[in-house]
Amino acid sequence: MVENSWKSQFPFLMQKKNGQPLIYFDNACMTPCPIPVLEAMEKYNKEFFSCGGRSNTHFGRDVDDKVEETRELVAKFIGAGASQEIIFTKNATEGINLVARGLNLHAGERVLVSDREHNSNLIVWQVLQKERGIELMILPSKSDETFDLAGLEAELQKGIKLVSVVYSSNLDGYTLPVEEIVKLARKYDAFVMLDGAQAVPHHAVNVKKLGVDFLAFSGHKMTAPSGIGVLYGRLAHLENLSSLLCGGHSVKDSRYNGFELEDIPARFEAGLQNYGGIIGLGEAIKFIKQVGFDFIAKQEFELNYFITRELKQIGGINFVGVDDPKSRGGIVNFYHEKMDSNQLTIFLDESANILTRSGRHCVHSWYNSRGVKDSIRISSYFYNTIDEAEKLISALKKILGLV
Ligand SMILES: Cc1ncc(COP(=O)(O)O)c(C=O)c1O
Repeated sequence: MVENSWKSQFPFLMQKKNGQPLIYFDNACMTPCPIPVLEAMEKYNKEFFSCGGRSNTHFGRDVDDKVEETRELVAKFIGAGASQEIIFTKNATEGINLVARGLNLHAGERVLVSDREHNSNLIVWQVLQKERGIELMILPSKSDETFDLAGLEAELQKGIKLVSVVYSSNLDGYTLPVEEIVKLARKYDAFVMLDGAQAVPHHAVNVKKLGVDFLAFSGHKMTAPSGIGVLYGRLAHLENLSSLLCGGHSVKDSRYNGFELEDIPARFEAGLQNYGGIIGLGEAIKFIKQVGFDFIAKQEFELNYFITRELKQIGGINFVGVDDPKSRGGIVNFYHEKMDSNQLTIFLDESANILTRSGRHCVHSWYNSRGVKDSIRISSYFYNTIDEAEKLISALKKILGLV
């Protein structure tokens, strides 16, 4: 493994507690912002603080330029055809909700999701089941917990309007065979939406090559601040999509008895936006491009391989999801037979300044369906090192009374 100096770019990660350096293994939840992102947001707040889209001052024009620059940057980053296909949202959840509600699905129309969806791509469909009478199909994984393409085809043959699945899972890091999923969906004229919250920060994504219809993701898992996300939608589909919110900025004109909608994407971005967040997202993309996806993948795999191997030697450990660390990106999710995962997380924090995540990781449905207890998730990013992973393993061994 190449040890690296990226960590020093993140002021949050450089803090110490009782002389112990902070070790951050909760990257599937949020990633901190590096200096260039923090500086760009500070510059906006200190030097050209203004709203976009409606201010005729030079500050307002600066904001407009930055917002559109970032839109272009995002479009190129994910291989979109045009910058209008990029809608700024609050987070991935908002993007998924926008599509779910905006498609105006009718009673009896069928939506298919996988059985490892984050609540953000499950609950809204359950609500629409109740509100509109849509049918929700949950596709079971195969016995090795990988995606069942044959099962998908069998469901598509029965008629599916939309396949809405997680691209890479926050549960176990598993990346679904999205190329094949999109090909199959096309064959049967179904739309495809991907929940890209754990994919876009970790590997190169190209929506055009994939041929996907919608992709939602968030900034706070890719070194941008929280409160900013993106929905990509194919232009032709956006024309037919209803807005989730309406109000200021989403209309060209209004009268007491009607209004004229703005063009795309403004019609989907009602109200003042998170301009600092958008600017931060642009800088985050530049930063990630500098790090490079090859480096990110290599670092995550080596960490995953090392942590998995060491945990196996501890014994009493059960892994959640797919088994092979090669298929798990930066995520190792497990529970110990005898030790409560929530207690483990607290002990790691208090005794070793190591931040991990415990619970059901917003995929409660998976845990409930399999009777699995709360687990502890170690999620790495490019600034984590083997030295940190060694400290994690030795802290775990101490807590478990093995050393
Ligand atoms: C796979 C996945 N989907 C959706 C979400 C929700 O993302 P957001 O908080 O940006 O709405 C998360 C967040 O953890 C996630 O990991």
